[in-house]
Amino acid sequence: MPKNFFASPKGMKDILPEEEGFWKKIYQSVEKIAKDYDFHFIETPILEKKEIFLKGVGEESELVSKQMYSLTTKGKEKLVLRPEGTAPICRAYIENGMSSLPQPVKLYYYGPFFRYERPQRAREREFHQFGFEVLGAKDPFYDALVVLVFTDILKSLKLKDFIVKINSIGCRKCRKKYLRALKKYYQPYLKNLCSDCQKRFEVNPLRLLDCKEEKCSLYKKGVPIILDFLCKDCKRHFKLVLEFLDYLSLPYYLDHTLVRGLDYYTNTVFEIFLGGEEEEEFSKLSLGGGGRYNELIKFLGGENVAGVGFGAGIERIIEAMKIKGVKIKVNPKDLFLIALGGEAKKEILAVWREIKKAGFKAAEAIEKESISAQLRAASKLNVKLALILGQREAAEKTILIKDMESGIQEEIPQNKLIKELKKRIEK
Ligand code: HAM
Repeated sequence: MPKNFFASPKGMKDILPEEEGFWKKIYQSVEKIAKDYDFHFIETPILEKKEIFLKGVGEESELVSKQMYSLTTKGKEKLVLRPEGTAPICRAYIENGMSSLPQPVKLYYYGPFFRYERPQRAREREFHQFGFEVLGAKDPFYDALVVLVFTDILKSLKLKDFIVKINSIGCRKCRKKYLRALKKYYQPYLKNLCSDCQKRFEVNPLRLLDCKEEKCSLYKKGVPIILDFLCKDCKRHFKLVLEFLDYLSLPYYLDHTLVRGLDYYTNTVFEIFLGGEEEEEFSKLSLGGGGRYNELIKFLGGENVAGVGFGAGIERIIEAMKIKGVKIKVNPKDLFLIALGGEAKKEILAVWREIKKAGFKAAEAIEKESISAQLRAASKLNVKLALILGQREAAEKTILIKDMESGIQEEIPQNKLIKELKKRIEK
């Protein structure tokens, strides 16, 4: 790295051309599957008022208490870089009067999110998510729909080996009973838990189940099972969700310790992980997660309207595709353009415009000083033909077509070029 150079902020990375294929493929799949299942695109601002997350995600959650990038504007407005997408989508639903549209409103989005975390593999401070939300939806049909959408996207990215973990954390009423039982269970071990869990015990006991510290995980085995505490309605809802998944033959694991890190969830919660044994550590990180949030819209000042959705980490999905050896063709080229001399360069640019109109894709290395250097660049690209223009060809309005495999070269008039290319390159 050069001296006195300012690198990108810690935990924030450039997305480089070598990864273009992965990003485009993911966005294409998201777009296609969103349209197949009748979701509509939404984009919310990168900055939101801090209160949206304090109220929506929960002041005690790690995300809000420790991980938000915040700023105060000259007008004393307290803003944050959005750490997640669901609360902003609910804010937009309320603000834009979407409750008066035919319900449910099915939305999808993608873009950058920011969390002040300790950067490590697959955990960045700026990362990207795509997400799907169904607002105004109580029916378990929609819990199953969002799992189906997520798994369909993974399959379309050739990621067939994944694990869906699912649980229900019930409504506020039945959870109260569960939390009492959970605290009773943990009470005798309290001093053995990590300092974060000791705090969680007081402010957010459900999150005790989410601790990754080894000494805390030990106690997870014997915890009371939340499903045993669900009220009649919550039990029925979850049973129906599972019936939908069974009917679709979508395999899942019931994980009664799955609780999620954001406080807005009620009832169904789920996470999806990469399967297989290639990368044990990576497989512990969720590719995405979501669930139901029946009270979030009301909490943010809207009507009493339920919602369900998920968010998926794009960087993690790309990593998963690489682990599984998924190959992506990036913008394959048909031709390589070669020119030497001022007139020939002008001419080749005009040729490029014409062949582009005819649907052919070309690359070039005009900056290189000699024809042989440009040909060497062509041979690295695996193109079928090179089109070569020197000063003489430019003056005579001809062009050389070189077959890169056989090396055979033919000179033709430029006005016959498109016809010749159509003969030689299958489209
Ligand atoms: P989340 O579990 O916090 O949920 O994030 C969803 C996904 O974003 C994670 O599973 C992971 O793939 C990715 N992710 C999160 N943090 C990072 C990070 N620091 N670096 C890289 N990737 C990361 C939500 O955000 C909810 N809004 C999901 C949702 C939508 N629930 C209902 N609707």
